[in-house]
Amino acid sequence: MAIQIKWLGHAGFALDIDGHQVLIDPFLSGNPLAPIGVDAIAADFILLSHGHGDHVSDTPAIARRTGATVVANVEIGTWLQDKHGLEEVYAINTGGGVQLPFGRVELTIAHHSSSLPDGSYGGMPNGILIFTNDGKTLYHAGDTTVFAEMQWIGEAGIDVAMLPIGDYYTMGPAGALRAVGLIRPKIVIPMHYNTFDVIAQDAAAWAQRVVHETDAKPVVLKPGDVYSL
Ligand code: NI
Ligand code: MN
Repeated sequence: MAIQIKWLGHAGFALDIDGHQVLIDPFLSGNPLAPIGVDAIAADFILLSHGHGDHVSDTPAIARRTGATVVANVEIGTWLQDKHGLEEVYAINTGGGVQLPFGRVELTIAHHSSSLPDGSYGGMPNGILIFTNDGKTLYHAGDTTVFAEMQWIGEAGIDVAMLPIGDYYTMGPAGALRAVGLIRPKIVIPMHYNTFDVIAQDAAAWAQRVVHETDAKPVVLKPGDVYSL
């Protein structure tokens, strides 16, 4: 089974898991770094970490055009159904998961907030775990600070962790470095930085610290770059 991981800038990723097109937090229309537009991106599934506009805003348009199935927490899932008319939605909750054709998707905790773009209550923010059918485990932390239970998440054996390093809205480089030490992923990809001035970071410098201070291999992508696992 082949897994390709394309960074869409910000917290957005387009995963190709054995031919299934899986988007995480696609944020394209308001993202100055987006390498592809809402009207062109392929999607079979869209996984959402929380309700903020820089994570959910493009989901209705992408899902309507592609027919993609959405996985989100119950408040976001219900909002997408009731406010945007989406039908193919798994509205799950923290600790719960759903079996999809490429593997199991589970929501885990994150420490952040989660209002929806129209002010609706967005439930609790989440991280996303993907357990692929051939035994690979991916962890997208969502927007979060570092927290001690990342060590438990890491006990699943994380092949790839996608962690925010931007600071301001999430943990910054120092917190993310501590998170790598707790999660102990084989590979770590930084995200949620450089989209806006307030989250500008030197990812290459951060990656050097990962190399010297942890056992993980950092992979710094440019928007549109693909890492093959
Ligand atoms: Ni957020
Ligand atoms: Mn965000």
